[in-house]
Amino acid sequence: MTEPERTGTAPTPTGPVSPIDYSERIPNNVDLADNRRLQRALESWQPKFLDWWKTLGPALPTKDVYLRTAIAVGRDGWAHFAHVPMEEYRWGIFLAERNPERTIAFGKHKGEPAWQEVPGEYRAELLRLITVQGDTEPASVEQQRILGNSAPSLYDLRNLFQVNVEEGRHLWAMVYLLQAYFGREGREEAEQLLKRNSGDLNSPRILGAFNEETTDWLQFFMFTYFTDRDGKYQLGTLKESAFDPLARTCEFMLKEEAHHMFVGTTGVQRTVERTAQLMAEHGTGDILPHGGIPLSIIQRYLNFQFSVSLDLFGSERSTNAAAYYTGGLKGRWQETRRKDDHTLTEATYTVRAIRDGHHVQEQAPALTALNLDLRDEYVADCENGVRRWNQALEEAGLSERLTLPHEGFNRRVGAYAGHHVSPTGEIITADEWNSHAGQWLPTPEDRAAVAALMIPQYAPGEFASWIAPPKTGINDQPVEFDYVHLREEALA
Ligand SMILES: [Fe+2]
Ligand SMILES: [Fe+2]
Repeated sequence: MTEPERTGTAPTPTGPVSPIDYSERIPNNVDLADNRRLQRALESWQPKFLDWWKTLGPALPTKDVYLRTAIAVGRDGWAHFAHVPMEEYRWGIFLAERNPERTIAFGKHKGEPAWQEVPGEYRAELLRLITVQGDTEPASVEQQRILGNSAPSLYDLRNLFQVNVEEGRHLWAMVYLLQAYFGREGREEAEQLLKRNSGDLNSPRILGAFNEETTDWLQFFMFTYFTDRDGKYQLGTLKESAFDPLARTCEFMLKEEAHHMFVGTTGVQRTVERTAQLMAEHGTGDILPHGGIPLSIIQRYLNFQFSVSLDLFGSERSTNAAAYYTGGLKGRWQETRRKDDHTLTEATYTVRAIRDGHHVQEQAPALTALNLDLRDEYVADCENGVRRWNQALEEAGLSERLTLPHEGFNRRVGAYAGHHVSPTGEIITADEWNSHAGQWLPTPEDRAAVAALMIPQYAPGEFASWIAPPKTGINDQPVEFDYVHLREEALA
């Protein structure tokens, strides 16, 4: 699946979408008003969410932001755009339409009707999967909290806030599942999702990459490209789940996610375009004095974000992954398009590892290699972006290129953890690693140099020196549209 590259306009729904009821305190298309108990539980969670948003959501004081909100009207898209105060954003519960005929597509329950309730035997696993997914959504909002203070333009600021409010909505999506289907335990997990915080030493977010600081906009674009894309692939596996409410929830989240992918792809692209332009103009790669980010620094940021995102897929060999698949909880990327038996009991998959200081390939049961199957799909997708970015370099007449590092580079999880692998894949010693790490990963000096370029541009149509303007605006608005209205204190 490639994300639509049309700016701003939401992707057209692939099927009918039920209308969303905005007369309720919590907008929804799940007939919440008919389930008073659940409605009360969610309404008591709502003020805690808003408190969290005020405390750990975007720090820059704004009056309103040109945001899209999910509605459900015909072919013109499911989104409505308007300037709204962010704290009044209508976070709600939106599931893709139910297909009453849907059957399970894989695993040992293949062919049986999809589940409308949680089966007792899979309750613990489903609770865990939903909790982990739910934990990543608010984490990224926390990580990006202060970025508004250094936005390269109002256009970019608006995109940041759009991603933030939608990650907040994805938290709502998971909290709905927890509260609707997992009783008291689910309600407790919903509380915990607001209590763990990114980077908090005592109660950090569950996954490593979601505790890393998002220091600047180049890292934000790398994050939305590489780490949000991991999210897209995880959602893609949950969209296949036999547990139908989870599948339908994730299907709608994926529609929102397309814009997040767009922000990452084009954000890095515009950075590279500007870099290429300055390199060509000044005949040097050392473009910091000219207000651009050197390609070598962009490559190091890329190396970092790609490698920590690969860790999110877990170990190449995993009996948990096999159990999730066989039980029908988590499918493969585009499960229904795969041409095999969808049970994989006999199939094998080639797994890479390091043995006795050498790269080797080994055959493993396909069921235990499903994390790697997903990661391989993901890496192939990542390569598309790099190809696009390199086009900008080629068009500027430059011979330099960006590359994805080797999958073993800088890894903490799985077969490569505990080994030192260079970006080109050589297995090296700890000493060699230590003497080269500063050429391969962002250094404190890199981050400081990038931070120094992050001068906010808050006038409509103005862009920071290090990034090219986009070709078009959001939702057919001009690039110089007043996407965000700031409060006086933000400009002081
Ligand atoms: Fe999300
Ligand atoms: Fe996202």
